[in-house]
Amino acid sequence: MEILDPGSPMALAESTRTAFTDWTGRRPEVVVRAPGRVNLIGEHVDYAGGPVLPMALPHATYAAAARREDGLLRLRSAADGADDWEGPVSGLGPGSVPGWAAYAAGVVWALREDGVAPDVLRGGLDVAVGSTVPRGAGLSSSAALLCAVGVTVTEAAGLGLDDALRARVVAAGIRAEAEMAGAPTGGMDQTVSVYARRGHLLLVDFGAPDPVAGRRHVASGVEQAGLALLVVDTRVSHALGDGAYAERRADCDRAARLLGRAHLAHAGLDEVAGLPDDRVRRRARHVVSETARVHEVVAALEAEDWAGVGRAMDASHASLRDDHEVSAPELDVTVEVAREAGALGARMTGGGFGGSAIALVPREHLPGVAAALAAAYEGRGWRAPHLLLAEPAAGAA
Ligand code: ADP
Ligand code: GAL
Repeated sequence: MEILDPGSPMALAESTRTAFTDWTGRRPEVVVRAPGRVNLIGEHVDYAGGPVLPMALPHATYAAAARREDGLLRLRSAADGADDWEGPVSGLGPGSVPGWAAYAAGVVWALREDGVAPDVLRGGLDVAVGSTVPRGAGLSSSAALLCAVGVTVTEAAGLGLDDALRARVVAAGIRAEAEMAGAPTGGMDQTVSVYARRGHLLLVDFGAPDPVAGRRHVASGVEQAGLALLVVDTRVSHALGDGAYAERRADCDRAARLLGRAHLAHAGLDEVAGLPDDRVRRRARHVVSETARVHEVVAALEAEDWAGVGRAMDASHASLRDDHEVSAPELDVTVEVAREAGALGARMTGGGFGGSAIALVPREHLPGVAAALAAAYEGRGWRAPHLLLAEPAAGAA
C-alpha cells in the first residue's frame, strides 16, 4: 500500500524555484511553503461557533513568485490538468476566474480588497506552485494553495509575517474560497495552515470574540508515546458534498436562531433536545456533543490518556455518521477496520462524504492496520487507499 511521502521541504522549494525559472526565465524573489491539514477532532463545528483541534501536515504547497510591472497576474501549477491562467489584477472579482486559478487569483483579489501590499498588486505577479497535499482528499489542498499564494504576496512586498498580517492572510483565504471559488468554509483550514506550530495541535475556538487571537497550541505528544496518527485517504469523494455542506450550515444557523443563540456550539444538550424538527435537532446535537468532545480531548492529551483520546474520536465518528450524516460507506469501513486492527480510536476527518479518516494507532500496529485496510478495500473492489503519517508541521513560512 502506498504511503504518501511529504518530500523534503528543501528539495520541493528548489524544484518549485526551478519550475518558476523554466517558465518565466527569471529567478523567483520569494518561495513560500503552506501546509495542508488534518483535524484531530472538532468536525463540522467551526461554522457553528465551536472549537477545532487540527494540525498542519508535513504535506504542503510551495509557491515561487516574482513581481511584474505591467499589472498582470500569471499563474501556473504543476498539478495535472491545471491550466495556466493570466489576467490583469485590476480585473479580478467573483466569477472572473475559472477552475483551480480561482483560489490563487481569489486570494490576490481578497488581499487587494483589504489594501494589503498595494504596490505589488498594482505591478502584478508571476506565481508557480507545486504541492504534495493530495487534492480533494479532505486534507485542505485548497487552503494550502490559498495560504501559499497569499504569503507570496506579503513576502514579495517585504512585509514581515507578524501575527496581524497572518490574520489578514487567513481572512483573505476564507473570503477567496467563499466568494471566488464558491465554497463557504468555516475558517479552520486557512487558520491552521497559517498559524500551526511544529509538534503541536492548534485549538481554535470559533465561538470566541477573536478566535485567532485566542488560539492555543497544544503539544501533541503522540509520537513520544509510541503512537502515530495515521491518515487514510479513501480516494473517493461523493458528489453530494458541496451542496450538503451548505445544508448542514443552514440547519445549524436555523437551530441557533430557534434557540436565540449567537453560536449554536454554546447551547446545552437539554436545550437542543427541545428543538422542534428532528433533522435540525440531530445536527444541533452533533455540534453540541462535538464541542464537549474537543475539550475532553484537550484534557486527555494533557493527561496522556490515549485511550480517552481514542474513545472521543470514536464517539465523534458516530455523531458525524448518525446525527450530522456527513460520513460515507468508505469512511465507516475504514474506521471500523482500523479499530479492529488495533487503532485506539478512529474517525472521519474534514468535510466528509468521502475524503479521509484519521486513526490513533500504536506504532507496532501500523503494519497490521495497513494490511487490514488493504484487504478490506480489495475485498470490496475499491481502489487501495493512500496512507499518510500525520506528524504536526509548522504553518506557512
Ligand atoms: P481539499 O479537501 O483538498 O481542499 P477541495 O475540493 O476543497 O479539496 O479543493 C481542491 C481544489 O483546490 C482542486 O480541485 C483545485 O482546484 C485546487 N487546488 C488545490 N491544490 C492545488 C494545486 N497544487 N494546484 C492546482 N490546484 C489546486
Ligand atoms: C471543511 C471546511 C472547514 C470545516 C470542515 C468540517 O471542508 O473547509 O471549514 O467546516 O469542513 O469540520
